[in-house]
Amino acid sequence: MELKLLFPFLMLHVIHDVHSSSNQWKVTVPEKITVLQGSCVVIPCLYSYPMPKSKKPLTKWKGFWLKGKKVVSTNVPKFKLVKLYNKRSQFLGNLAARNCSMLLDSVGKNDVGPFHFRIEMPQFKSFSYSTNPVTIEVTRDPQPPVLSMKMNEKLTASCSVSHSCPAILPRFSWSHPGNILRRSKKLNTWKWETVSTLTFSPRVSDFNKTLNCTVHYRGGKKVTSSTIIKK
Ligand SMILES: *[C@@H]1O[C@H](CO)[C@@H](O)[C@H](O)[C@H]1NC(C)=O
Ligand SMILES: *[C@@H]1O[C@H](CO)[C@@H](O)[C@H](O)[C@H]1NC(C)=O
Ligand SMILES: *[C@@H]1O[C@H](CO)[C@@H](O)[C@H](O)[C@H]1NC(C)=O
Repeated sequence: MELKLLFPFLMLHVIHDVHSSSNQWKVTVPEKITVLQGSCVVIPCLYSYPMPKSKKPLTKWKGFWLKGKKVVSTNVPKFKLVKLYNKRSQFLGNLAARNCSMLLDSVGKNDVGPFHFRIEMPQFKSFSYSTNPVTIEVTRDPQPPVLSMKMNEKLTASCSVSHSCPAILPRFSWSHPGNILRRSKKLNTWKWETVSTLTFSPRVSDFNKTLNCTVHYRGGKKVTSSTIIKK
């Protein structure tokens, strides 16, 4: 009896939620992103707006990333950006597809934000999503990579790091020659994992020696992890 009464209510509630979330001024961005100093960051961003009354489809969108009143990045061609961000930022998003992602390169210790997105639709309305700012935590030193090793017929070593810069992936160098493979995957909306795998057939003289993996980040920082080659 109780369930019967509850069910229609729940259904209505769900339908109402789905409707309203895509038809209002809303932006989906991370609150805080951790970025290595000197490296880059892609700020993921999706936005939505209320349904315009007019049936005419919109054709023009101007998107701006702002820090206070300063424009950090835009899709508007030839727009004069603040010097600090000129040539360091890139507007990646496709505004027609409600994507407002941006890239910031050579992140400095003062690039903490907060940054927020603004949309201008000349055929409709403009809106600043200033209640959903993005802040950046700039770290000075990279974490050492996680190094692991597996011995089958050959030796396979894996060296793994997480980062925020999918546009310019970290490079890896190994202290031993072999077959090297690099791959990346997304950990969340802004964090990526890049893994380098080294495979080789060890000689007797390789055992008990150090194996090093060095990660070279965008911006020049590097960090090494070591392990001992064992059977
Ligand atoms: C938004 O655009 C960025 C940059 O092109 C892309 O990497 C990302 O996958 C897009 N997001 C969605 C949800 O389509
Ligand atoms: C590995 O790195 C350590 C210090 O980071 C260095 O002393 C050592 O010579 C390196 N070993 C090899 C085989 O490159
Ligand atoms: C490596 O070191 C272990 C002890 O630490 C020793 O028993 C073994 O013989 C060494 N192997 C080689 C190939 O040097």
